[in-house]
Amino acid sequence: MALRPLPPSVDEALQTVHDELLEVDDGELPDYIPPLAKVDPRQFGLAVCTPDGGFTATGDHDVAFSVQSISKVFSLALALVDRGLDGVLEHVGVEPSGESFNAISLEEGTGRPDNPLINAGAMVTSSLVKADSAEERFDRIRAMLSASAGRELEVDENVFEQELEVADHNRALAHFMRSAGSLTADVDETLEVYLRQCAVLVTAGDLAVMAATLAAGGRNPLTDERVFSSDVARHVLTVMVTCGMYDASGEWMLRVGSPAKSGVSGGIITASPGQFGLGLFSPPLDEQGNSVRAVQACERLAERFSWHTLALPEDRRLPVELEDGDSETVSGGDSA
Ligand code: DON
Repeated sequence: MALRPLPPSVDEALQTVHDELLEVDDGELPDYIPPLAKVDPRQFGLAVCTPDGGFTATGDHDVAFSVQSISKVFSLALALVDRGLDGVLEHVGVEPSGESFNAISLEEGTGRPDNPLINAGAMVTSSLVKADSAEERFDRIRAMLSASAGRELEVDENVFEQELEVADHNRALAHFMRSAGSLTADVDETLEVYLRQCAVLVTAGDLAVMAATLAAGGRNPLTDERVFSSDVARHVLTVMVTCGMYDASGEWMLRVGSPAKSGVSGGIITASPGQFGLGLFSPPLDEQGNSVRAVQACERLAERFSWHTLALPEDRRLPVELEDGDSETVSGGDSA
């Protein structure tokens, strides 16, 4: 990657957290998507990217895995680009469901799924992406994911096909939403687009750049491409605050304090506007479906760098300004 190094304190913090947490063996691999149950549970990668193009990574940061639910953030961004905020809100809510990611959480009266980051809502937002065919719709979502990562991303066809075979629950959700009127697109096509976007391959390094694209208000720090507007970035980050970590979103905001999104393959992105994007990968999951090591890594890093979105600016200890790629400038605090 043509990115600049970050200050040594950031490298050192990532490395320390990686080494400290490598031995944690809590959590389970998901067993409902067969290929995800077969991965090496010890894999653990972390990467950080800043809006001005700083980048550093450690551990298994270049191991590819399917993006799964983290794709929902970027299909939401594309639906917002295509339909505007009101056009999206007509079809999907923005309230935490307080239930698991595959729950049937539909609003009484309107049939809208609770939010775009649970499966039901994500199928609706994907179907809102403008296209003349399911193929074109998926291509546009993949292009959005790729532009956010700064490189062409591919689909893991094996993950896609195996998930399609066991997709009864998601198929049922789609039928249910069609009967409630909140999904107007074809069920099979919707399911296929949604599962394909979940099967797009990324690395923790990609996730850091994707998160940094959100942190930079929609501009990719690697390619300098404007992928979406700063309004869209803000809208997406807002939904991530309340709904990104499923029914652990409240505790995540207390302990970590930055918008985030997790996926069932063990990935997490988190972003702090104007500051950084972080991508993490470690497959074993906790009961809410969030990566055990990645959550703990973010808790430790958030404490060390005091990056909580609601913290006073003077209390933050993030490296906010970098000169010539190697100087270290910090605001407030003493331990960065
Ligand atoms: O729809 C599914 O079940 C998966 N393709 C994605 C789920 C997911 O990543 C939820 N994450 N925690």
